[in-house]
Amino acid sequence: MERLQKIIAQAGVASRRKCEELILAGKVEVNGVTVTELGTKADPAQDIITVNGKPIKTEKKVYLMMNKPKGVITSASDPEGRKIVSDYFKGVKERVYPVGRLDYDTEGLLLLTNDGEFANLLTHPRHHVPKTYLATVKGVPHGTELDKLRKGIQLEDGMTAPAEVEYKDVDPDGKESVIAITIYEGRNRQVRRMFEAISHPVIRLKRIAFGDLLLQNLKRGLMRSLTKDEVNRLIQLAKSEKKRKGTK
Ligand code: URA
Repeated sequence: MERLQKIIAQAGVASRRKCEELILAGKVEVNGVTVTELGTKADPAQDIITVNGKPIKTEKKVYLMMNKPKGVITSASDPEGRKIVSDYFKGVKERVYPVGRLDYDTEGLLLLTNDGEFANLLTHPRHHVPKTYLATVKGVPHGTELDKLRKGIQLEDGMTAPAEVEYKDVDPDGKESVIAITIYEGRNRQVRRMFEAISHPVIRLKRIAFGDLLLQNLKRGLMRSLTKDEVNRLIQLAKSEKKRKGTK
């Protein structure tokens, strides 16, 4: 559900301000009923919204996942002229944007959508949606060091929530190792900072799962639509994680 003036403005009818005036002037109907309250919410996918008797064109909701290569920035623009993710979805006609962020040097699963409610649900810190990464780190952390990450470790912005951590591969000469880590938060550079805190800096970082959605064999730089079932499962997961963990 979104505010009516936002839906109408996004449909390209007029500016947000002008849309508010149209509502106040009684020019807007939702499912045949005139709405003059500015706080009114509607569902652009379900409700029939008209302005001056004409139905508005609402954008279809799209949900995509991409395998972001490293060396690409998740923001909409970059003053330094580096590659940005939107370079990869020029063929997508809807205005999609990333759900959360991945660092410039991090690769892997990135969700993209034009559904603001879906993006908020998945990224809200209270919803504790798990994200799993494969971290190639310097050296081989001792089990007791990984236990610190499992329990929660002090970073400069506070303790981390408990994480799930597992060895995946260890270089025989001990130079580096691959660790799978699942975190339930999304702080800035969190995984990198967690491994720095145990003195095993990250060499390579790849997100392989978002909730129960797996990157699998999606090729680097490519994207695909999520199925309805995948979208619904992510929504259910975010809602149930919120209930299970309670609020902070
Ligand atoms: N943690 C990081 O350190 N970087 C990311 O891009 C995502 C999680």
